[in-house]
Amino acid sequence: MAEQDRGLDEGDLDADPFAQLSRWFEEAQASGNPQPDAMALATATADGRPSVRMVILKEVDRRGLVFYTNSRSQKGLELEANPRAAVALSWPELHRQARVTGTIEALSREESDAYFRTRPRDAQLSAMISRQSAPVESRAILEQRYAEAAARYRDQEVPLPEDWGGIRVVPELFEFWQGRPSRLHDRLRYVRATDGTWTIERLQP
Ligand SMILES: Cc1cc2nc3c(=O)[nH]c(=O)nc-3n(C[C@H](O)[C@H](O)[C@H](O)COP(=O)(O)O)c2cc1C
Repeated sequence: MAEQDRGLDEGDLDADPFAQLSRWFEEAQASGNPQPDAMALATATADGRPSVRMVILKEVDRRGLVFYTNSRSQKGLELEANPRAAVALSWPELHRQARVTGTIEALSREESDAYFRTRPRDAQLSAMISRQSAPVESRAILEQRYAEAAARYRDQEVPLPEDWGGIRVVPELFEFWQGRPSRLHDRLRYVRATDGTWTIERLQP
């Protein structure tokens, strides 16, 4: 029986859901999954109309889950109006899914800049010239803007764009789903109490 088919018991879980998510994320990175950091991010308008898209999970630590994006994009504007999000990660090689729901906080300019510095120059230039999620008349316009920015910053660092940075999902709820060959899958959920402690409950599959 493959390791993951043994299922998930309460005793397998770390009492700390952040450590549990980090452990699963590391195992997914070692599992042969071509993109273990691909994360579906759901947001909603203030009046409750949902939208979802993939982003890259860049960091998990005790403060939450970090991704980077444009604050004037559709997701950025929705998060500004309604600072709550839900995310899901799927790791089929391990028959696992992780879900997190929480509130949102922006990373500081300093933290965003530190990450922006690590990005390849073409990615920096693309972030600089894209008004993400706004319509554009043609691809040629984007390529022209890119070429202009490349020329402008030829001999200098590309500055961190005003509207680009990191966003952290601060979890209120985690769910760890482990598929079982019987289809009687395991689902264990961590819920945060008002005093900040976490309790674990089992959900029906
Ligand atoms: C695997 C994958 C990873 C992605 N990662 C990011 C990301 O980290 N940040 C981002 O802004 N867009 C990312 N995108 C693009 C988004 O899915 C989306 O097209 C874009 O952010 C605009 O979304 P919005 O209009 O809902 O704001 C990714 C797309 C894919 C397929």
